[in-house]
Amino acid sequence: MTHPSLTQDELKTLVGQAALRYVVPGEIVGVGTGSTVNKFIDALATIKDQIKGAVSSSEASTARLQALGIPVFDSNEVEQLAVYIDGADEIDGQGHMVKGGGAALTREKIVAAQSRLFVCIADESKLVEQLGRFPLPVEVIPMAAQRIARQFAAMGGSATLRLKDGAPLVTDNGQHILDVTGLRIADPLAFEAQVNNWPGVVTVGVFAFQKAGVCLLGTRDGVKTLE
Ligand code: 5RP
Repeated sequence: MTHPSLTQDELKTLVGQAALRYVVPGEIVGVGTGSTVNKFIDALATIKDQIKGAVSSSEASTARLQALGIPVFDSNEVEQLAVYIDGADEIDGQGHMVKGGGAALTREKIVAAQSRLFVCIADESKLVEQLGRFPLPVEVIPMAAQRIARQFAAMGGSATLRLKDGAPLVTDNGQHILDVTGLRIADPLAFEAQVNNWPGVVTVGVFAFQKAGVCLLGTRDGVKTLE
């Protein structure tokens, strides 16, 4: 059934609710960050008595989970999670993503790495042929920011320091974010490995090593499952 009038916000609600079927009863679930994940957290609250709790990828998600009465565990307390549910700024047909629009990419990658399955929830605007349309977030150690910006320039990119209220945005980890435009990421695995090797890079927002195993894509024809 087609719903041409659904807004982007309503598509996010649909996929947030659809993700509940991947939550394993009695277990701890990995929870991402962002407006789509907020819909998932709201849905998770309706089954909170059926789960043990969550491992969270940001202070913002932790606050929302706790406000809804969902226990939050430190990632070090949990060896492995069955599932990690998070949004994306871009996703391609193979499950590679660009993430970090909400500046939570480092903790997102950590929780994704300790999870057996990454379920990406996104509205249809996030699906791309090739990564590189959305400015690529890169969390950096502040003293390395300018050198890293020059390394991106040598690749044809243009890096801008992300600001908040006129000052450099400071992440949950006390670092800065560069947003890089003008990149064409034809080989996400090779790109992620390359940028990871630059001194001062904390996390690059390409998720190829921690790619999605499933994507629940909110479309006006309903939720499509890409595997
Ligand atoms: C936060 C993220 C988010 O998952 C990404 O920015 C998508 O956010 P939204 O669901 O609000 O569009 O990576 O760091």
